[in-house]
Amino acid sequence: MSFTGKVAIVTGAASGIGAATIKALAREGAKVVLVDKDEENLKKVATQCEQHGKKPLVIRADMNKDEEVKTIVKATIDRFGQLDILINNAGIGGEVPILDQNFMESYDLIMDTNLRSMVHLTHLAAPYLIKTKGNVVNTSSMTSLRVFEGLVTYSISKAGVDHFTRCVALDLAAHGVRVNAVNPGFTKTNIMQNCGLPNDDKAWEYWKDRTALKKLVEPEEIADLILFLASDKARSITGSTYVCDNGSLLI
Ligand SMILES: NC(=O)c1ccc[n+]([C@@H]2O[C@H](COP(=O)([O-])OP(=O)(O)OC[C@H]3O[C@@H](n4cnc5c(N)ncnc54)[C@H](O)[C@@H]3O)[C@@H](O)[C@H]2O)c1
Repeated sequence: MSFTGKVAIVTGAASGIGAATIKALAREGAKVVLVDKDEENLKKVATQCEQHGKKPLVIRADMNKDEEVKTIVKATIDRFGQLDILINNAGIGGEVPILDQNFMESYDLIMDTNLRSMVHLTHLAAPYLIKTKGNVVNTSSMTSLRVFEGLVTYSISKAGVDHFTRCVALDLAAHGVRVNAVNPGFTKTNIMQNCGLPNDDKAWEYWKDRTALKKLVEPEEIADLILFLASDKARSITGSTYVCDNGSLLI
């Protein structure tokens, strides 16, 4: 899949699924824009992207700060003059039951990070995506489709991502812009430690056991799916959501 000549933004590019996706896009010839709040890991991933020949644009931004989000599209256009692909991937987990004392605090943080920031960046990017007849891929989750205990807000945020994907796909269809989502199952990344949950082998064994195929997804598999949806091979696909979960939804 060649992305030569395309300009792609990936949020949450410093780790996990975002890092795998931006590296794959760089490998396939895209000019890449890495966005994350984690400056240290952002630089490491940027160096790996640069090994494919093009100097990436690196933007340290907190997706929950509107002023910082506003710099992303502007800096991309200033540097590359166009935008073809937007991968809205930054997100956080969080296991906070409805009875938790701090439920509303965590609700605001998770909804802002996983849904509001995606809506904001898509709103800012849309005029440029229309110019290139580009496309958007959002990272949702299988938790948009079934519930797990403690994941109230996370699940709501991802159900919102699925519906946002369909709504904005319809809004932008007349302009030739496609919008899709991927819905990963348990994927071995830093998501657990990044939201303060246990990240040891025992914890991942527990999640593995909650799949039909009794294994975890690799971030590179989700990156492959994202690249397919972002490519011309998926030119007839819009408003769709794709599960990759080792069959967790089956059990
Ligand atoms: N790992 C899984 O099992 C799994 C399953 C389903 C969906 N997802 C989704 O995949 C996406 C990527 O997660 P991951 O598993 O790669 O996790 P990760 O923690 O490894 O990576 C997430 C990245 O997003 C960045 N980020 C978080 N909040 C941010 C903010 N406010 N501003 C800028 N950057 C921010 C983090 O710094 C991190 O680099 C998320 O949307 C997550 O909800 C993950």
